[in-house]
Amino acid sequence: MTADDQKRAAGAAAAELVQAGMIVGLGTGSTAVRFVQALAARDVAIQGVATSEATAALARSLGIPLLELDEAGDIDLTVDGADEIGPGLALIKGGGAALLREKLVWEASARRVVIADAAKTPGRFGRFPLPIEVVAFGHASTAKRVDAALADLGFDARAILRRRDDGHPLKTDNGNVIYDAACGAIDDPTALAGALKALTGVVEHGLFLGLAERAILGTADGVITLLP
Ligand code: A5P
Repeated sequence: MTADDQKRAAGAAAAELVQAGMIVGLGTGSTAVRFVQALAARDVAIQGVATSEATAALARSLGIPLLELDEAGDIDLTVDGADEIGPGLALIKGGGAALLREKLVWEASARRVVIADAAKTPGRFGRFPLPIEVVAFGHASTAKRVDAALADLGFDARAILRRRDDGHPLKTDNGNVIYDAACGAIDDPTALAGALKALTGVVEHGLFLGLAERAILGTADGVITLLP
């Protein structure tokens, strides 16, 4: 079973949670694509709230009606992928640069489900470099303060500006830039999250803590569910 088979199985299982009439948060990334495709194939009457322009385009192409977050108000269920799933379903997200809109949609949702292939649950939390969304104005200055905060917490890591293939800084859907910090083991994600949020210029980070109610994983042995 390939990783994509696992993503497809997890996405299909999550689509079964959706009922007619729901407002559904639509995640971003290759696993979320599988969910959106499975949801469209079920043909239940729902309205979606997209977590990125890419997902909005996909949903429109599949005939899923969309609402803006502020039009939707309360979202019934959000299903989204993750770059890493750790203890207590702590997540690292943002590999696709959509972390800010994702977190806004997750936090507006009554239920939040993460879907992934089995490789997203390594032994020690922190393998995936942590994405940090930073205001474009003065971003290198902000990055220095990110580095200092990481050092204060004992991390031997520096924030690296994410670039597009053409070398230009990648801009998010919100016009910000992304830095990635290869922290290594993150034993206290709450402390790290708090330190980053306290920095002027940091808009959001990719630590999603206490948000996922369950993880639906595609594995070589079939789909399994993990609870916090
Ligand atoms: C997007 O910014 C991310 O948070 C994605 O949800 C995450 O990168 C998972 O993507 P894949 O499903 O493609 O691994």
